[in-house]
Amino acid sequence: SAQLNDLAVSAGLKYFGTALSEGTINSDGTYASILNSKSNFGQLVPENGMKWDSTEPNRGSFNFNSGDITANQAKKNGQGLRCHTLIWYSQLPGWVSGGSWNRDSLTSVMSTHISNVMGHYKGQCYAWDVVNEAASDDGGWRPSVFYNTFGTDYFAIAFNLAKSADPNAKLYYNDYNLEYNAAKTDRAVTIVKTIQAAGAPIDGVGFQGHLIVGSTPSRSALATTLRRFTALGLEVAYTELDIRHSSLPASSSALAAQGNDYANVVGSCLDVDGCIGVTIWGFTDKVSWVPGTFPGSGAALLWDENYNKKPAWTSVSSVLAAA
Ligand code: G3I
Repeated sequence: SAQLNDLAVSAGLKYFGTALSEGTINSDGTYASILNSKSNFGQLVPENGMKWDSTEPNRGSFNFNSGDITANQAKKNGQGLRCHTLIWYSQLPGWVSGGSWNRDSLTSVMSTHISNVMGHYKGQCYAWDVVNEAASDDGGWRPSVFYNTFGTDYFAIAFNLAKSADPNAKLYYNDYNLEYNAAKTDRAVTIVKTIQAAGAPIDGVGFQGHLIVGSTPSRSALATTLRRFTALGLEVAYTELDIRHSSLPASSSALAAQGNDYANVVGSCLDVDGCIGVTIWGFTDKVSWVPGTFPGSGAALLWDENYNKKPAWTSVSSVLAAA
């Protein structure tokens, strides 16, 4: 039977993709064989390897070993690549987050980082998450060394620097809870408008999609939210989709509900012109950030921890096949 990326492409999406766990790919053959299939995944994104603490742990000293794992894998398999992420408050080395900067010195640090990291992957990234998670869940601005130094001016600075470093990469703002938190979604709209008003380039908004079984919005509500951004001339994508159970083990009805939620998310992308693809944040329940961050929650992905396809896999394949 047809696999998810093949079905997604037939349905008119550019790809169905997954995050790659750098700590797993070289030690688990079953993991590697599923990930290496372009029929399963048309695009890869590094779970951690392209973040600032990996790529520039010390000022001016760059390391691409971890990021290259995903880039090389994608190249070998003929898969696309999403690149994640440049300007983020988290996984930011202490020399940046704890430095005492002014606008000029922090602009110089951002410029060196963006030009080196994007330069290393130039021509390989379909899209870059230029700025990640700048809004907070209460609809305000998330504090960070960038916001504290520049206010909102760092958005345009970062997107302009990114455009110079790799003019062909799509430039994204990426965040979570935009799917159902209207105050935060409003803030993301403000971010886009701020960038556009400054004359800086932005191409897309990534909806991370870290959702919960039973409280995922309906297909039409999700589509309405995506259209707030396509109405601004942007493309959108689900970039880190996972839908976790908040109590485990999941019953068979909970597994069916998870499938329904997944189908609503993927269906909303199919319904919106300008929604270009769906990326899941890992594919097997064996390898997921969720239980470590939300103890007692988990089983958020499409393959179980023994690499069997779950009911949610079938729901996603059905909604893609029906498009
Ligand atoms: O690499 C070190 C290892 O050397 C060390 O021994 C080990 C001990 O803790 O830590 C390892 O680093 C961990 C890293 O993942 C790689 O496994 C970090 O502690 C851990 O914090 C880190 O978690 C990642 C998290 O981002 C950090 O914020 C998750 O894997 C990753 O899935 C998660 O991804 C984020 C997206 O980038 C942005 N959106 C939300 C999403 C989920 O939190």
